[in-house]
Amino acid sequence: MRGLFITLEGGDGAGKSTQIRNTEEFFARRGLTVTHTREPGGTRVSEKLRAILLDAENKEMHAVTEMLIYAAARAQHVREVVEPALERGEIVICDRFVDSSIAYQAFGRELGDMVAEVNRYATGGLKPDLTIWLDIDPETGRARATHDKDPDRLEQESTAFHTRVREGYASIAKAEPERFKRIDATGTVDEIRDEIYRFLEELCKARGL
Ligand code: TYD
Repeated sequence: MRGLFITLEGGDGAGKSTQIRNTEEFFARRGLTVTHTREPGGTRVSEKLRAILLDAENKEMHAVTEMLIYAAARAQHVREVVEPALERGEIVICDRFVDSSIAYQAFGRELGDMVAEVNRYATGGLKPDLTIWLDIDPETGRARATHDKDPDRLEQESTAFHTRVREGYASIAKAEPERFKRIDATGTVDEIRDEIYRFLEELCKARGL
């Protein structure tokens, strides 16, 4: 049987890493094999592209260039890691996916519809079975974020940019309510985990897992 593809989305300070660990644990406890990966990255080539994307020195990078590099990293990642794991029947948990490009590049950078179009080629049409969006307003998120490194190129963007990113996620939530679930990330870690677990249980039930 084909596996499940689950993605997590959310801005700075939303607590995504902690909840990714909780999501992994949910499936591990059921004895299922989990592949945990991330975007941009997840393969040797894609991690090289990630370094270019996040390097704060690459200030002159054009929005279209940026969008294409995210898509290029994704094209490699889908074919080398995600699809093979799904074919082996594994649970793939991915930190960010196409929805990040819709939020950051289509809305944040205001590139519009071309982003979805390019990403259809990049992914070969692959869509997550479930996406969890940890929603937090950008100011609160930034204040909560603990950085052990200097802010990367995207983190350095303005509040206006991050507000557009949030609007992008909100528009996906409206368009695809079955797949794309919003969770208020101002709750406690345990509250958020419980909400995620409810969505995961629903999904498992629907898939007979
Ligand atoms: P990362 O350090 O993984 O961010 P976070 O810890 O917030 O998940 O860096 C990824 C950055 O790249 C993040 O700011 C979001 C951005 N991004 C895009 O702009 N487009 C994309 O398609 C993806 C996958 C990420």
